Amino acid sequence: MKYPKEYLDEIKSRLKVSTVVSKTVDLKKRGKEFVGLSPFKNEKTPSFTVNDEKEFYHCFATSEHGNIFDFVMKTQNLKFGEAVRYLANVAGMQPYMFSKQDEEREKKWKEYSMIYSRYVDYYHNELLKNETYSNARDYLKNRSLGKEIVKKFKIGFVNYNSTFIEKFKDEFKENALLETGLFYIDDKNNKLVERFRNRIIFPINNLSGQPIALGGRIIEKKDYLAKYINSPETNFFKKGSNLYNLDTARKLSNKSENIYLVEGYMDVVGLNKNEIENVVANLGTSLTDKQISTLNQFFDDIIICFDGDESGYKAALRAAENSIKDLQPDKQISFLFLPENEDPDSYVSKNGKNNFLDFSKNSKLSIHQFIFNHYKQQTSNDPSSLAIFEKKLRNIANSIKDTLIKKYVLEYFLEKISELTPHQSQIKKKRYTKKIKSLEVTKKHFKESKQFSGVELKEFSLIYLMINSLNILQENINLLDNIKIFTDENKTIFNSITEKLKIEEKLHLEDLDLDNQIIDKINRFAPIKHILKNKINNDFEVIEILEDIKRDLNNYDLEFRIQELESRFSKDFSEDTFNELKELKKRQNIN
Ligand code: UTP
Ligand code: MN
Repeated sequence: MKYPKEYLDEIKSRLKVSTVVSKTVDLKKRGKEFVGLSPFKNEKTPSFTVNDEKEFYHCFATSEHGNIFDFVMKTQNLKFGEAVRYLANVAGMQPYMFSKQDEEREKKWKEYSMIYSRYVDYYHNELLKNETYSNARDYLKNRSLGKEIVKKFKIGFVNYNSTFIEKFKDEFKENALLETGLFYIDDKNNKLVERFRNRIIFPINNLSGQPIALGGRIIEKKDYLAKYINSPETNFFKKGSNLYNLDTARKLSNKSENIYLVEGYMDVVGLNKNEIENVVANLGTSLTDKQISTLNQFFDDIIICFDGDESGYKAALRAAENSIKDLQPDKQISFLFLPENEDPDSYVSKNGKNNFLDFSKNSKLSIHQFIFNHYKQQTSNDPSSLAIFEKKLRNIANSIKDTLIKKYVLEYFLEKISELTPHQSQIKKKRYTKKIKSLEVTKKHFKESKQFSGVELKEFSLIYLMINSLNILQENINLLDNIKIFTDENKTIFNSITEKLKIEEKLHLEDLDLDNQIIDKINRFAPIKHILKNKINNDFEVIEILEDIKRDLNNYDLEFRIQELESRFSKDFSEDTFNELKELKKRQNIN
């Protein structure tokens, strides 16, 4: 049984985390936080923190983390309900009486669902039969939606002059009517007004098929009106938790492994008209984790098919990045991109069912393919852009909760990235027979370059750029200030070149007097070499590349320092370390 959020919030607002924790843990104040010895681990130096402002505790030694309820559940081995009762008591509150609240909610639900059912039935029948509704019927006819499909979805129309509301008023309290979201109060005359007036209405049902909300479409274009509106959220309707047509589509889960997820009501209706019934729509908001996990309860394969326009693409990308986190073994999420300016409804109307199914089978991209392709398109072939690309993909892979899937997706990304080594652009120009051989070379090169860390490779690029653009750098010598070099060997070379650049009039490569072996290595492995080739005489681009490298190196610096501080903090627990850490993290977010 669920406790109402307000009751839990009330407990939280009465009890600070430090108050609850200090009953079992000795806490000392440090700045805004409290620290103490972890209750989850035997330790001599404190690694347990409490933050009252943020309402949580965090244990650096064990990564335990949570609010007051979690704390007493874990330390006293209580169930959630028991923890709530215990803490309510500590807070001086009455225990929560479930039955009464339940009754109340049950009563409200009955009223709510009754109003919705009556409302939906009434306007559906009006649309089918009422003479004065011919404009709405014509609209549907123009979109080739016949009686049968209108009946299947119980589509309705709310006439502008409907008097139905008058009947409702006698039966239900104004408050109950308002709580459905079907009406609102007109400020001018303090009267209830139909929210969906002059709109075609699509009932949104809960899993048991009971209408709980509506989507409404205008039938005459007016600039000041939104094309679609949805019911506002109510006690019984939460947008991110529901999907249009799921109540019907889920019944197909024993026949079909896959489900199409589309953007619009009309897409669901249009596909159904063409006998594709395993389809649901999200409700004009971004796709949520909850919606994906609900779909996964019934279907193993979700095919997200958004409109073939920019906003559809963006929505798909958002959905991909969000839902990849929760990817499960044996479940698939893929994406189907329609030709430009088509939506599923228009596509299937033009091309028919079989074409749509074939298209879907042949053109869908799995979620990791889509994400890879997307970021690849954003990446130019220079090292810092490639580095950002790799970092982004690693981050995305790391956000996946399931460890097996995480491993698989990460491998997929890295494999694809390795195919992208700069050699490739040259390989493509060669004849096919040569191509295979060169690919081997590329692979070997990639393997060899793996012996160097990312930082080293970046430093190679820096030095490579320096020795190949001596003159440009000589004129812009201060660009070489404040560059962080990590490897001793590279640092020596960097310093020696910089010194000479400052002193000599016109510096040539021979004047540098560098260790040949090191220079060979740099020439071989500096990832930048293929990119720089054509740009060597372009001051502007060289400078831009240099700045990118510089920024990346400084970011490495931040990252290393953060790692170091984090490990120090888990030992010394000093406030200074903590503040420094916070500061660095802030800077990392800015770069
Ligand atoms: P579309 O504009 O793609 O509409 O919006 P559609 O489904 O193709 O409808 P038709 O074919 O023009 O009738 C897709 C979905 O985005 C939400 C609705 O859920 C809609 O079904 N939406 C759209 C809104 O919530 N508000 C709007 O103003 C427009
Ligand atoms: Mn459409």
